[in-house]
Amino acid sequence: MQVEILGNIEGIEIQNGALFIKTAVADARVTVYNDTIIRVCITRRDKQPDQSLAVIQGPSGELNYHDLSDTIEVNTSAMKLVVNKNPLRFNFFTADGKPLTAEDTRFGTTLDGDKVMNYRQLHHDEMYLGLGEKTGNLNKRGMSYVNWNTDAAVHTTKDDPLYKTIPFYIGLHSGVCYGLFFDNHHRSYFDFGASTDEQFTWFGADGGDMDYYVFGAQNVADIIKDYTWLTGRMEMPPLWSLGYQQCRWSYMSADEVLGIARKFREHQIPADAIYCDIDYMDDFKIFTWNKQSFPDPKGMVDQLKAINFKLVTIVDPGIKIEEGYKEYDEGVAKGYFATYPNGELYTGSVWAGRSHFPDFFSEDVREWWGNAFRSLTDVGVEGFWNDMNEPAAWGQNIPPIVKFGERYMPEVRNAYGMQMSRATQAGTKKILENQRPFILTRAAYAGTQRYSAIWTGDNSASDEHMLFGQRLVNSLGLGGFSFIGVDIGGFMGNPSPQLMVRWNSLGVYTPMFRNHAAQGMNMREPWEWGEENENIIRKDIEQRYKLLPYIYSGFYQSTQTGLPLSRTLAIDYTWDENVYKERFQNQTLFGDALLVAPVISTEQAADVYLPEGEWYRFSTDEHFEGNQTVNVPSPLNDLPVFVKGGSIIPMQSLVQSTSDECDGILQIHVWNGAVANEYVYYEDDGISYNYEKGEYYKRVILFSPEERSISFSAVEGSYTSRFNKLQIVLHGFDGLEVIERESSNEALTVNF
Ligand code: GLC
Repeated sequence: MQVEILGNIEGIEIQNGALFIKTAVADARVTVYNDTIIRVCITRRDKQPDQSLAVIQGPSGELNYHDLSDTIEVNTSAMKLVVNKNPLRFNFFTADGKPLTAEDTRFGTTLDGDKVMNYRQLHHDEMYLGLGEKTGNLNKRGMSYVNWNTDAAVHTTKDDPLYKTIPFYIGLHSGVCYGLFFDNHHRSYFDFGASTDEQFTWFGADGGDMDYYVFGAQNVADIIKDYTWLTGRMEMPPLWSLGYQQCRWSYMSADEVLGIARKFREHQIPADAIYCDIDYMDDFKIFTWNKQSFPDPKGMVDQLKAINFKLVTIVDPGIKIEEGYKEYDEGVAKGYFATYPNGELYTGSVWAGRSHFPDFFSEDVREWWGNAFRSLTDVGVEGFWNDMNEPAAWGQNIPPIVKFGERYMPEVRNAYGMQMSRATQAGTKKILENQRPFILTRAAYAGTQRYSAIWTGDNSASDEHMLFGQRLVNSLGLGGFSFIGVDIGGFMGNPSPQLMVRWNSLGVYTPMFRNHAAQGMNMREPWEWGEENENIIRKDIEQRYKLLPYIYSGFYQSTQTGLPLSRTLAIDYTWDENVYKERFQNQTLFGDALLVAPVISTEQAADVYLPEGEWYRFSTDEHFEGNQTVNVPSPLNDLPVFVKGGSIIPMQSLVQSTSDECDGILQIHVWNGAVANEYVYYEDDGISYNYEKGEYYKRVILFSPEERSISFSAVEGSYTSRFNKLQIVLHGFDGLEVIERESSNEALTVNF
């Protein structure tokens, strides 16, 4: 092994708006994307940078640089990059000169065979957040990780790697923050000072370029906005996918699926979606139906629709080897599957037995895959669950010589799931025309938020996993994902009734709310837990439905700013050291207004840390001053959830599904507080893409404590709200007060 450290600068020039720097072993390009994003891309000499799958923006910033004797300075209004010439190092500062992140003076960037590595200085107080679906604490200092998308079946809360690769982290030290995105989907490594005697941190990959972006906005929310500007944001999800979802591996027949769906209606438990896991297929052949157990899929879906249920079906990438099976025959004929270098098709085994794997990196293959969804959309399926796309093959070790087009496995793996969900989204959008599909994927790379919702894979039925799941949701939220779920109740194992109830309560405040269990586990549906527990579960699911106007507006915010619906407190209270303590690190803001404190199922009281400001218990309106730890009751029927003083939460009356007619009353709940607050309310038909043509309903709601008023801006957009009455519900003023108004599109101020 020969490690080459980038040497001295041999020359600089400007190429396509980038500062191009030559050394004996490498070429480096510095590009200003905007005032708070600078990219450094180091390649081997005379090599073009790899094409990014994550980044969807080009540079829009101006390159403003000064060539000084020992350094080159690149300046924006917010950042300064100091490029040391001898040896070549890249050191980032705020515009006024505070150090953000600098390379280790000794090593900087190194090239070692195909490997690229970057060594950076570690500040004594530095904390690290993010990196997506990774185990460990909120603060990842002292940890090291590998990105290698893995079918982490029945993982523990310590395993690494899991299913996704999100090589983006946020560093915090000495009152400054920065983000760093390493855009490379080869197998990659991140070390936050784990075994370096606290001397440095490092990251790198087995191949590809040392291509990274440094984000210099000076708060975490703005860093997320910049990162999602660069890599994209989610689309508005179909409204039904925000309701309660019931899944199981598997409901074994159409009768069982229908029976379960009907039981929700009989028991008056709201729900919107039911899933078919792998057993709906004929011998696990993707895009087929089992003729015995699902003899009339269209009839089944029609009956589901009649009771306001949507169907989601699973698809895996592996195509069973079987002559006469359409996707197999076509894939072979057209050369759409992965091969060995000698052209032989690669065979791996998954649920369907011996299978071939489509090359989703090819546009033709993506198009072909997308069209195949007709067999599902024709019968009325509206949700498409992309699983096993790490890709999984029994043995979990697809050989490195397997080729997908021109790319070999080591380069493909971490982005395979992303390209599969890209194909699924593009195909189903095209087929469904103006209707929004719901797409869910297990594996992902940075940017996959543009194509799909995600869930955290095969967890287990334990309190530990419930808390861990919350950390994963929060960490993925820092990495651009908002629409995230965990298997509520735990995939493997059987939860106690208490754990089921508790986890379901937490599910209300999780962006995607899906109950799922593995084959062989006890049945999980809400009525399986005794009447008393069923009543709590029902009440909690009802709460989810009442909150849908708030949740929908929260997702709208994600589409506009990239801010996730579930947020670690580190986003809003970055410099409050309590939020990083192990006992409080799972606490989450759900949208702008709610603070949710996960509590394990065996505890009936909990310590909750309330950050600065005023807070109210959501269930009782009890008032608390912030900046303190409070011990509060947490019986199974009352998860500790708090509302920030001054918050505005739009709610609706109870419905049994999102397709039900509601009573037309939009409740605007406002909690008293000393600080004025502004809230963006958003609504559209929840089904189509007409919002892209202006068919939405958006207004800003303002609470002013001085004027004791709530004002509504005039409505923007051409959609007619499904609510024609406003009910303003005041909490924490002089008692509870309700004010009713006819809703109109004009601006309106209500004094009280
Ligand atoms: C994988 C998925 C799981 C699914 C199962 C069967 O383990 O993660 O959710 O139920 O496969 O398809």
